[in-house]
Amino acid sequence: MATAIAKAVGVESVEHAARIENVSKSFAGPAGQQLVLDDITLDVAPGEFVTLLGASGCGKSTLLNLVAGLDRPTAGSITTDGRPALMFQEHALFPWLTAGKNIELALKLRGVPKGERRSRAEELLELVRLNGSYGKRVHELSGGMRQRVAMARALAQDSRLLLMDEPFAALDAITRDVLHDELTRIWAETGVSVLFVTHNVREAVRLAQRVVLLSSRPGRVAREWRVDIPQPRRIEDAPVAELSREITEVLRGEIRRHGQH
Ligand SMILES: Nc1ncnc2c1ncn2[C@@H]1O[C@H](COP(=O)(O)OP(=O)(O)OP(=O)(O)O)[C@@H](O)[C@H]1O
Ligand SMILES: [Mg+2]
Repeated sequence: MATAIAKAVGVESVEHAARIENVSKSFAGPAGQQLVLDDITLDVAPGEFVTLLGASGCGKSTLLNLVAGLDRPTAGSITTDGRPALMFQEHALFPWLTAGKNIELALKLRGVPKGERRSRAEELLELVRLNGSYGKRVHELSGGMRQRVAMARALAQDSRLLLMDEPFAALDAITRDVLHDELTRIWAETGVSVLFVTHNVREAVRLAQRVVLLSSRPGRVAREWRVDIPQPRRIEDAPVAELSREITEVLRGEIRRHGQH
């Protein structure tokens, strides 16, 4: 998959799950063109877990949408290893389908034969620890369970790259904590690459191998940190708290500079 894309653009090496090169994005606003992202360059290596951190409105979702191919950059280029899977804050499950059928739909769209879909959906439900929930309808599931189904559905696409936009932001702290553990386990088990957007510093440090901080107005890569704390981490672990404090200081500086809250 990556080879075909790389060949098309004449790139030799495909040692990346996503390659974002000199990407800028402007939107037309009442006061003319508004530059939201300015010259972003960022690679995600195969199997790497990167969090994209920044203040509200700095352009995180805009960048993720560009990587997903939902919109085009104004300048620069983006290549990915195949088509990425997406997961948002809102689960976006179809309420008229059961948990299992929501997953099967994703399998169908990627061409998995009918006879294999049911067992594959059951396996994916098991992976997100929802064994026995195949026949449950969306309204019968808790918020945390819905996000688990959404994760299973994203994994059903069998993508090499998972794009996540604040997928746990609407959940309570304890459920979020459990889902952090699950995501870390699934990432380790599947080897999928993850680009995870959040404005929660602790969450960014809890999950990632690398935290990339975006500045605001326009969004630029302000700084990045490699996180060498061994997994599984806990959000309350001292090294997580310590690095989070350091990153928060830099983030505060960014927010002060741009007069945001
Ligand atoms: N389709 C669009 N048309 C015009 N402006 C847009 C569009 N999409 C995003 N913007 C603007 O781009 C900026 C960045 O928005 P974006 O949603 O990417 O921020 P964010 O970092 O994801 O914020 P949050 O943390 O609140 O989700 C905002 O000023 C927003 O108004
Ligand atoms: Mg956003």
